[in-house]
Amino acid sequence: MLSKISKFTLKKNKSKIICLTAYSKNIAEEIDKYTDMILVGDSLGSVLYNYKTTRKVTLQMMIEHARSVRLGIRKSLMIVDMPYKTYRNKSEALRNCKKVMKETKCDGVKLEGGIKLKKIIQHLVKNRIPVLGHIGIMPQTVRGKFRVKGKSKKEKNEIFRDARILENVGAFAIVLECVESKLSREITNIIKIPTIGIGSSYYCDGQILVTDDILGLTQSKIRFVKKYIDIKSHIRKGVKQFKKEVLTKKYPSKKYWY
Ligand code: KIV
Repeated sequence: MLSKISKFTLKKNKSKIICLTAYSKNIAEEIDKYTDMILVGDSLGSVLYNYKTTRKVTLQMMIEHARSVRLGIRKSLMIVDMPYKTYRNKSEALRNCKKVMKETKCDGVKLEGGIKLKKIIQHLVKNRIPVLGHIGIMPQTVRGKFRVKGKSKKEKNEIFRDARILENVGAFAIVLECVESKLSREITNIIKIPTIGIGSSYYCDGQILVTDDILGLTQSKIRFVKKYIDIKSHIRKGVKQFKKEVLTKKYPSKKYWY
């Protein structure tokens, strides 16, 4: 029987792979009906905790959020981001990834990096840890502003090389973040594992966005973010009505007390 991961990689080129982030059970429960993969992203550092970078996110934070997300997922693949400085060498990476897999019951982990992680990812895969790669913009190590990657020949060659390395060492898929569209298409056409784009055009096999961004819970001004609903206005409407009914004693009526 095919594992959940192998089924995921088989989807390549058949239909688009739908991916979103979740940091808690309630959101995971709702998006799981539509997603193929749910990522517990370390973007939770900036989205939930107002950190300037994702570097302050700890392994324990990721584990706690992932355990909550696990409760909401029934069918999607669940992947957990490994935070900054938790995979600097083979033994550190294996120890921490095993801990995350064991304590969150996730299906795999995501690591940011290409050639520098070659040996580490190889080691993880050998030890049966499914790895989702992440190249292009890598928020844990990016310096300065986020900008498109792969425009210069040098950068293009590096990203292409990294995608090839991740494929060869056994990553089951690769996130391409803000990778120039033609390069995304080329990588997607050539490598055999799925590419998941974020700001990297529709040529990728799948797409991922931060759920809080598409719901309008954040003020994100990033070019690739599309807000699909203004959930904040619904929250305000509900809370305003609750306040009004409490003040006028419409709530709780007898139906709601004992
Ligand atoms: O941390 C995150 O949420 C991510 C993605 C959106 C790819 O890495």
